[in-house]
Amino acid sequence: MPYYQFLGKKIFYKFKNNNSNRLLVFIHGSGGTSDVWDEQLTISDEIDVAAVDLPSHGKSDTFQNLNLNLYVDAIHSLIEELRHHEVILAGHSLGGAIIQEFYFKYPDKVNKLILIGTGGRLRVLPAIFENLKNNFQEFLNSLPAGAFYHKTSSSIIKGYLEKISDVDPNVIYQDFKICDNFDRLQDVESIKIPCLIVCGKADKLTPVKYSTYFDEKIERSKLVVIEKAGHMVMLEKPGELNRVITEFIHK
Ligand code: COA
Repeated sequence: MPYYQFLGKKIFYKFKNNNSNRLLVFIHGSGGTSDVWDEQLTISDEIDVAAVDLPSHGKSDTFQNLNLNLYVDAIHSLIEELRHHEVILAGHSLGGAIIQEFYFKYPDKVNKLILIGTGGRLRVLPAIFENLKNNFQEFLNSLPAGAFYHKTSSSIIKGYLEKISDVDPNVIYQDFKICDNFDRLQDVESIKIPCLIVCGKADKLTPVKYSTYFDEKIERSKLVVIEKAGHMVMLEKPGELNRVITEFIHK
């Protein structure tokens, strides 16, 4: 799997090359990696698909200060590197903030957005910061109740927890700080490109209300609420997520 250069450092991404001039890029949320998109990488053989490890995440190099602009420009560099005619950005949670910000900064470089379990404002519970600073085990213990539907299989939750428990708590802390400071609620209605909005019905971290808000404000939007899923909808209901994304990208 390839790397690209960004600010003199290496950024890792997974790439499914289908020799298309269209590109779909998946961007993970706080403390995540491209691994959360493994079920989406082969979503279609009619479009090239990439999933990135953001700076300081997964196999990408470490950066000193993490901020929204850094993440946006890391995605911009990937798009410049790959040179497709059409670009669709899909972002989950923090990744959703990144793709909104990308649109506001580079409106001509993106054709469609897929906003998954995210919002135009992403305030974070103080207890999350407290645990990330002082008690990482307690952060991990309380994560399943917030991030997953209560009947999601324990093997899915276990797999996710194993991966996030290896991440530097300070990186997750900085990601959540970026979320907490993100507020584009007033600008959402200026998004003029087609947007697919997807949310798990039982999402507690970014409640359905946030997605409904997008749907009401964005002119060319389609909202899909997925039953029996929480915040980690791409792990909990990959088949349903892939179906709605496939429909949207081929429209
Ligand atoms: N879209 C639409 N409405 C939103 C919104 C969004 N993205 N974000 C906030 N709002 C609404 C809230 O529903 C609330 O409306 P209300 O007053 O009618 O109830 C209002 O804006 C203010 O909410 P908020 O800015 O979140 O501040 P708060 O002090 O009420 O709540 C938290 C702060 C942290 C308790 C709350 O945001 C929360 O429970 N967040 C979810 C849990 C979490 O930590 N998520 C992590 C996200 S990465």
